[in-house]
Parts: sequence; structure tokens; C-alpha cells
Amino acid sequence: MAETIEALFDEDRRFAPPAEFAANALVQDDSVSKASHEDPLGWWEAQASSLVWRKKWDSVLDWSGAPFARWFDGGKLNVTESCLDRHLADSGDQIAYHWEGEPGDRKDITYAELYAEVCRLANALAGLGVEKGDRVAIYMGMVPELPAALLACARLGAVHSVVFGGFSSEALADRINDAQAKAVITCDGAWRGGKIVPLKDMVDAALEHTSSVTSTLVVRRCGQQVSMSEGRDHWYDELVTQQAPEREATECDAEDPLYILYTSGTTAKPKGIVHTCGGYLLGVSVTHRLAFDIHDDDIYWCTADIGWVTGHSYAVYGPLANGVTSVLYEGGPQYPAEDRFWEIVERYKVTKFYTAPTAIRSFMKWGDHHPAKHDLTSLKLIATVGEPINPEAWMWYREVIGGGRCPVVDTWWQTETGQLMIAPLPGVTETKPGSATKPLPGAFADVVDESGQSVPLGHGGYLVLTRPWPAMARTLYGDPDRYVETYWARFSKPEEDTWVYFAGDGAKRDLDGYYWLLGRVDDVMNVSGHRISTLEVESALVDHPLVAEAAVVGRKDDRTGQAIAAFVTLRGGTTGDGALLTELRDHVAKRIGKIARPASLVFTDELPKTRSGKIMRRLLRDISEERQLGDVTTLANAEVVQEIADKAAERRNSED
Ligand code: WTA
Repeated sequence: MAETIEALFDEDRRFAPPAEFAANALVQDDSVSKASHEDPLGWWEAQASSLVWRKKWDSVLDWSGAPFARWFDGGKLNVTESCLDRHLADSGDQIAYHWEGEPGDRKDITYAELYAEVCRLANALAGLGVEKGDRVAIYMGMVPELPAALLACARLGAVHSVVFGGFSSEALADRINDAQAKAVITCDGAWRGGKIVPLKDMVDAALEHTSSVTSTLVVRRCGQQVSMSEGRDHWYDELVTQQAPEREATECDAEDPLYILYTSGTTAKPKGIVHTCGGYLLGVSVTHRLAFDIHDDDIYWCTADIGWVTGHSYAVYGPLANGVTSVLYEGGPQYPAEDRFWEIVERYKVTKFYTAPTAIRSFMKWGDHHPAKHDLTSLKLIATVGEPINPEAWMWYREVIGGGRCPVVDTWWQTETGQLMIAPLPGVTETKPGSATKPLPGAFADVVDESGQSVPLGHGGYLVLTRPWPAMARTLYGDPDRYVETYWARFSKPEEDTWVYFAGDGAKRDLDGYYWLLGRVDDVMNVSGHRISTLEVESALVDHPLVAEAAVVGRKDDRTGQAIAAFVTLRGGTTGDGALLTELRDHVAKRIGKIARPASLVFTDELPKTRSGKIMRRLLRDISEERQLGDVTTLANAEVVQEIADKAAERRNSED
């Protein structure tokens, strides 16, 4: 069998769940996983009683229209009744969100207050003509009105489409047009790194290129001057505050759409991922409870912006359905100083903390003295999502943030999966640094080769999901053919009624059956016929004590097909010289083999990243192959690109 992706990196450290944690965990043995394997649909059906339903479903899963799924068909509910109404009687006074603004202002919002705000906002939207099924664009900073906006749409059965506040007005206009949104909820501005992001100005610019929007609601946050268009634009504090704090929830079908969320394609037109009410809420609430081991007294903080799926599923719907108290922080991790996150953890005594590898690598770069200033002993579990986490970053997270006593929960999933798919059960699963471990209960995965055959343990290939799951995307908005083509065409066999979801990620499974994510399959290099994952070389680089972050791409090479080009950011205070360069290349050779030794290596202060923090390897490839640089407008830090290009050119000249 041809090796699809070679699995070179060996990691043999492993960590059992800490004894005290395991003794208090919701799940303490493998009975839950077993039950879900024996009868997946029966297991999900049993979980569904944890939500509030107005009418019970007729069938758990209707897969007759595969790959278009219908979960809990015939069931009726409104997701806000599970997220809000049911908590009012016993825990209306419980805090839903400890909100903290970037400039330092703070506000605690109870479940009763959130409920009232959602109802007032739903009433205001209804007054503006928003009805069940209408799309509403949401373009806001991380203010308390943001989760309220999602829920107010849900209360009305309207479909929200959140556009991350860091996107440009063109990106906003594209998304408004694609969804034909009727209204926009926004803010005058958002605080980010001490500066105002002028959201309302961007909305004004976007609306010049759209015709579907009839009204906007504007939250006053930064207080700067904005222009308000008479009849179209309304101040939130004028319109919403005067509404009644009650509103009957609109009854929805389990399969009615709850939201659209566009994935930020770097080249093609963004894809509008559609999630529905019943299955989605079930998938996110169950996985939130299991993977984060949610108890009533938890203070939970998911640092993701609500503009991303992680924020939708694990800062809004999952935690609220589970009645947990969350932290919601408006701003950046560096404001006013690099210890802001740890100050927040200490202030609210956060117990469960969920962030991204890109943030963890920044924390490593900034230095251990920042977390050391704060008492982080309230933390019981720390988790990550968004990218493969390099083993050394995982170890740093475990030791420096988790104090060596917290399970590290690496969660693999996607906007399309809606819910976590591969992650440890923290009280049960032994973890290994860099592995997302195994599929959660109710999730089924495999690693296959080009022909769709399962590869033996110890080998790499393509990650696929082999059974439908409740929170799966139902389609791409307005483009069902592209949905089938992108995710289901590659490995499914419709003639045999076998449906296999292709995630687009490479993965390997070790001899224990653990999954190791190797990045997007477009991030695989081919060096002299060996398919090597960029991630493994990056992990070998980050394994060196002086390296904070690394990105690796394959550039064309006459001799080897592709040659490995590395870009390296060093830990605070270190400068890269020729000796270190050689040392790092040798380090990779020693760590994973000569075949993976980078052909070139450039030191840089920063790596180009998308606004969600993912490294843009495409641009580094362009730089390495001396191509005209592609579109940089989706980058968070476009200015670093030229700097890296100059350094790479300098380096090439000195090599010649
Ligand atoms: C990557 C974010 C490795 C992966 C929830 C996936 C990960 C894409 C992990 C989805 C992880 C996410 N380990 N890779 N724990 N989590 N990814 O849609 O490539 O923003 O396909 O969803 O991020 O990104 P998205």
C-alpha cells in the first residue's frame, strides 16, 4: 500500500488523568463510549432528553436523503428555551457571563438578565420586521449584546449570520449578499488593542453594495462619532431598552436553520455553513459537558471570538444550554500587557479554560514571567482548538498554565462539524502531547488512503468521519451541490449507500489508535517522493528550546520535487545567526530524519496569520517560490509579509 502521508514524528510521553480530577469527573470509565458504540442512534436519542422539547421527534435520524441529514425530525423546540427559560426558576440569579471590557469596565449578567435582554432585543427585531426564517447579519465586538443578539434571532426563529468583527467591509457585504440578510446588528465600534475598530463605518461601506438590508441596530460601545441614516439605522439603547422583557419563543422544527456561518476561504468564495436547531444544540451541549467535564460550580472561559464557530458552539450555545457561568472578554491578550488573560483567570477563578494553539505559542514567546505573576491554581482543565498543537507547546501549556495538574484537552473539530469530534474524555483518556486522542462518544472517524481504504495503525492518511452526527452541517447556504462535492464526493460510494465525510485534514493513528492531526492536506509536502506533513517539521523546530513558532512549506525544487522552506520565530530575546540556523536544521534531522531537514530557514519576528490565527502557508509558499504575492487582505498582520519576503530574498542571495 502506498503511504499517503508519512508519519515520522514519534512522541512517547503520556499522561494519565490526574487522580483527583478523575475521581470527580462526570465520566470515570469507558461505559459511555461503549454504549455509544453499541447503539449510536440510541445513545444520541437518550442524550436528547437533556434539552427542552415542545414536541418529541418522530425519528432520531433520517439519512434517506444522504448526505443531507435530518436529525430528530418532527421534533419541535426553540433553542432559547434550553439556553435560558429553563434556568430561570432555579438559577435565574446565577451569572451567565462575567463580562470584561478591554478598557477594564466589567459587568456581571445573570441568566434572568440575559433572558430579559434577549426578549427585549427579539421584540425590537420583530418591530423592524424580522420574521421566522429571515437572515440577520451580526457584526459586533465581544460585548454582552453579542450573545444576546444570537439568541434574540433564535428566539424569533430568524437565522443569524455572524461576521467576525475583524473582517473588511467587502467581506461583510459578500456575506450579507449571499444570505440576503434583512437586518444588521452592529456596534459603533469595538475596542481592540487599545484602538477603536470602526464597525459602523464598515457597515455603512458594506451597505453601499447590498440591497437586502432594511434596518440596522447599533450598540453604543466606543462613543465615537458615527453617521446614522434616518429610517434605516437605530440606536440599540433607544430602541431595545424600551421593549417588554418578555417574548414568547417561536416554535421551530428541529431541522429549521439556526444559523449560517461563513468559513473564511482564502481563495474561493466563502462557504455558508448551515446549522439547524435540534441536532446542533444537542451536539454542542453534550460534547461541552463531556469534554470539559462541566460541573455546576465551574467558571468556564472560552477565549474564542463569537465570530468563529468555537464562539458559537462553546461560548454561547453549549455553555448556556448547560447552565454554566462563563467569562466573556472583549479585547486582546496583550492589552494593556501580556498578562491580561492570566489576570482574568485569577480575578474570576476560572476553572475551565479553552483557547487556541496560536495564543499558546504567543504566550510562550512572551515568556513565563507573565503567567507567573498570577494565581492560576483555580484551573482544573485546560483545552485547545483550531490547529494542531505542537508537542512542546502542549507541554508548555500543561506545565506553565496548568501547573502540571490539569488535563489538557485538545479538541479537533470544524465549522462544518459544529461540535467537537475528536478529544479526550478528561477523566478517562490518557493524553499524549500533540494528540487529540480518540473520537468522543457518538463520533466515528477513520484514517484512509487515496482509495478510501482504512490504513493500518501507525500510518498516516486522510481523516474521515464515517457516521452522521447531530451537529453536522446540513448544507452550504444556496449551494447544496458544492456541499456534496466538497465534503462527500471524495470517499463516499453512493451506489453502495456508503457515506464518508472528508474533513480535508491529514492525520495518522498511532499503534494505540490515537489520532494525530497533521494539518490540512494542502499542507503536505512531497520531498523526493516522501509525503511529509508541514506540521511534523514545525513540531520538530518548536521542540528546540529557543524556538517559539515555526511555519514550514514545500517550495518547488528541481532535484527533490519540493524542498522544505522553514520560517522561524525565536523566543523573546534571542537573535538568529548562522550557527543557530545550522543547529535548527540539524535538530529537525535528528528529531525526525534527514529527509525532513529544511533546505532553507529564515528567522522572522512574526508569521503571517489569518484573522483566526491560522498560519497562512500559501503566502509563505508564494514567497519561497518568488511568486507575485497573493491576496493578503484576509491576513491579521499583512505588514509582516513584505518583511519576510525581503529576508527570504536576502537569504537566497547570500546562498547563491
Ligand atoms: C484545524 C475550528 C488539529 C483543522 C473549530 C480543521 C485542528 C480546521 C484542531 C477547522 C485540532 C481544528 N488539531 N487541527 N485540535 N482543531 N483544527 O472551521 O485543520 O475554523 O479542519 O473550526 O482547523 O477550522 P474551523
